[in-house]
Amino acid sequence: MTIRNSRIPGFYKLTLEERRTRLAEHGGVELSEIVEALEQGGLKPETADKVVENVLGIYGLPFGVALNVQVNGVDRLVPMVVEEPSVIAAASNAARMIRSSGGFHADMLESLMTAQVQLFDVPDPEGARVRLVEAEGELLEIGARAVGNLVARGGGPRSIEVRDLGESCVVVHVHVDCRDAMGANLVNSIAEAIGPAAHAIAGGKLGLRILTNLSDRRRVRVRGRASAADLAVRERPDGPASSRGPGSGSLDPGAVIDAIVEASRFAELDPYRAATHNKGIMNGVDSVVIATGNDYRAVEAGAHAFAARSGRYSPLAVWRRENDELVGELEMPLALGVVGGTLRVHPAARLALRILGITTADELALIAASVGLASNLAALRALATEGIQRGHMSLHARSVAIAAGAAGAEVEEVAARIAENANVTVEAAKAVLADLRSG
Ligand code: MEV
Repeated sequence: MTIRNSRIPGFYKLTLEERRTRLAEHGGVELSEIVEALEQGGLKPETADKVVENVLGIYGLPFGVALNVQVNGVDRLVPMVVEEPSVIAAASNAARMIRSSGGFHADMLESLMTAQVQLFDVPDPEGARVRLVEAEGELLEIGARAVGNLVARGGGPRSIEVRDLGESCVVVHVHVDCRDAMGANLVNSIAEAIGPAAHAIAGGKLGLRILTNLSDRRRVRVRGRASAADLAVRERPDGPASSRGPGSGSLDPGAVIDAIVEASRFAELDPYRAATHNKGIMNGVDSVVIATGNDYRAVEAGAHAFAARSGRYSPLAVWRRENDELVGELEMPLALGVVGGTLRVHPAARLALRILGITTADELALIAASVGLASNLAALRALATEGIQRGHMSLHARSVAIAAGAAGAEVEEVAARIAENANVTVEAAKAVLADLRSG
């Protein structure tokens, strides 16, 4: 199912019920499906009890949707599960800037998972390496027999690589096409099946047989550009540019690009900054990964190992000026699946895929990475111009307004006023509310 338009102006102003209805209209998903899938956090306690051990109940997180995301010419509404205010709004705002300059252009650089078979105390590592490489066909055949269903779906082990790690340790990498599965179980089965044969060839002792989460043969590259004019418009933190209230007006178009490029350079020069820069990217990526029931720990491990691949921890995305445009590029490993795993048991994860309108793991990876690049742009733009706290405080002001007793339209009004007065406290919100109600 293809979403024709990911722009839904004023979405943030709707009530929760209205948003579900609008999403059903735009996303081609039945309203009843949305309501049922998100009931009880999407997972019944009895189901959770079958998924992990010692279950006491369900732990809920907000399930929202990022707007304005266009990847390779196709609009997508992107489900995000995250507890941090402003992540979804910021990604949506940045995605809108990129959308107006052509959207995200993303591609998958190979789509292979990698199994590792460790051999240690190998008497002649170089001889073992040569013999293992010569036995590639035989080893691949053993691996393929272990995953018959995957082979029937067109996937399976594709090639091997042998690395001499020194200290008499040799490791066999088996690169596997897992089709639309994340593939951890498939890859582990292949590693375990190949282990004894590899051991017989290499000698020494057979060690670990497990996938690597540094899945650098399953990599996404995404590019996006934004014009100086779009970047210069001040945004409401949770919605479109506004002519009133905090956040109105505009920034200096030339300066804003240079400031973002400088922020990007900072991350390239300093691992301390790169860690935070990448955290901002993972705000977007992880939220999509979690919404779609994927393994965010695996994605995190892969992302940071990839960021450190040169020996120096580096930013996953960088930004440069091209004439009057800002151009960003993100590259990272992203091992995601759209079949099996959590998706079997989690209605909300299945709903997320339906809202996305995708059927392949590659499509999901391209979209998750695009949201990561959008999150990065949003963070750098805010940090490099007015600072991050202003937007955060405006959003925080809403929960403070609710805590003070504001309801319905009062919430926005009270939040706007306390944020404007830079006094985001429950007491201040109560005073504004009393003032409002007294007319
Ligand atoms: C906060 O969740 C993420 C940021 O710190 C990212 C960044 O500094 O680039 C704002």
